[in-house]
Amino acid sequence: MKTRFTTLFGVSFPLMSGGMMWISKAPLVAAVANAGGLGVLTALSHPDPEAFRKEIQATRALTAQPFGVNLTLLPTLKPVPYERYLQVALEEGIDIVETAGRSPEPFMPLLKAKKVKVIHKCTSLRHALKAEALGCDAVSIDGFECAGHPGEEDIGGLVLIPRVTKALQIPVIASGGFADGRGLVAALALGSEGINMGTRFLLTKEAPLNEELKQKLANAQENETSLIFRSLKNSARVYDNEQAQAILRLEAAGKGIEEIAPLASGLRGFKAYQSGDDQHAVLTLGQVVGLIDDIPSVEELIQRIMKEAKSLIQERLTRLL
Ligand SMILES: Cc1cc2nc3c(=O)[nH]c(=O)nc-3n(C[C@H](O)[C@H](O)[C@H](O)COP(=O)(O)O)c2cc1C
Repeated sequence: MKTRFTTLFGVSFPLMSGGMMWISKAPLVAAVANAGGLGVLTALSHPDPEAFRKEIQATRALTAQPFGVNLTLLPTLKPVPYERYLQVALEEGIDIVETAGRSPEPFMPLLKAKKVKVIHKCTSLRHALKAEALGCDAVSIDGFECAGHPGEEDIGGLVLIPRVTKALQIPVIASGGFADGRGLVAALALGSEGINMGTRFLLTKEAPLNEELKQKLANAQENETSLIFRSLKNSARVYDNEQAQAILRLEAAGKGIEEIAPLASGLRGFKAYQSGDDQHAVLTLGQVVGLIDDIPSVEELIQRIMKEAKSLIQERLTRLL
C-alpha cells in the first residue's frame, strides 16, 4: 500500500508508532521498523543525551530500516536540554524527527539545514497550519480520543482529521483512536496518508512493561480513561485508576502544579511499568483501549492491520459499488 507517507519516509506500510515515554525504546522501535512501519524513539526517556545516543545505536544494531526520534516539548518542572538531545540525534544520522507538545519553530532552522524530515504532532487545525508554514514535512493530528495530550478543544478525529487534510498540502497522519485495519481504511478515507498509534503499540509483546500490567490494560474498556490536568490547561488522557482519581480530586479542590506534580511524576510511571502496579501511577492510555484485547507481537499486529485493511477495501467497500 503506497501513500505519500510510505514514499516520504521510505517504509512499506502507512503506519507509525508515536513516541511513548519509557516505552518507545530500541526493541519496540526496531520491531516496528523491521515490520515495515515507522517507529520513533522518545528522546526524553533517557536521563541524558549520551544515554539517548546509546539507545539510537542499540536500535541501529537491531534494524537496517528507517526510524526516527520523538522530541516532546511539553512544559517540565526541570529545564530539559532539548538542543543537546537533538544534536546527538543528528550526530547519529537520524533524519526523521517527530516533535510534539509545543511549536518546533526554534529547532526548524537546524532541522532543515540537516535535511531532517519533520513530523509535527498537534491537536488543532491552527497548529497544523502553523507547522506547515514552518516547513514541517508532515503533520500528525491527534484527535480527542488519543492517549496523552489531546489539547483543550476536544475535537474528535472524525471532524479534526478531514478538517486538517483538506486544509494542508503536506501529508497528514491521523492519530488517536486507531488500532486495526478498519481504522486505517477510515483514516485514509478521511484524507490522511497513514495512521499513528500509541496505545495499540503499548500493548504488544515488544513494549517494555510488566506483562500482567499489559494484560490488565488490554482488559480495560473505552470508558476507562480520564482527562487529568485540565485545570492546568495541559489535559492528558490516562488510565482511570486511583492515581488519576486522586489528581482529579486535587484539581477539583483548586490545587496547583506544586501539589499535583508529585502524584504525576514520570518516575512513578516508570516504576509502575516495572512492578505492574496499575493503580498508583499515571498511566497514559487512549480510548482505543476498548478495541484492544490481545498482546500480539509487532510483526503480527502490523501484518493483521494490513491484511484487514486490504480485505476491507477489496471486498466490503468495492462490493458496495
Ligand atoms: C504510554 C504512552 C506514552 C506516551 N508518551 C508520549 C510522549 O512522551 N510524547 C508524545 O509526543 N506522545 C506520547 N504519547 C502519545 C502517542 O505518541 C500518540 O500520539 C497517541 O498514543 C495516539 O493515540 P492512541 O493511543 O489512541 O493511538 C504517549 C502515548 C502512550 C500510550
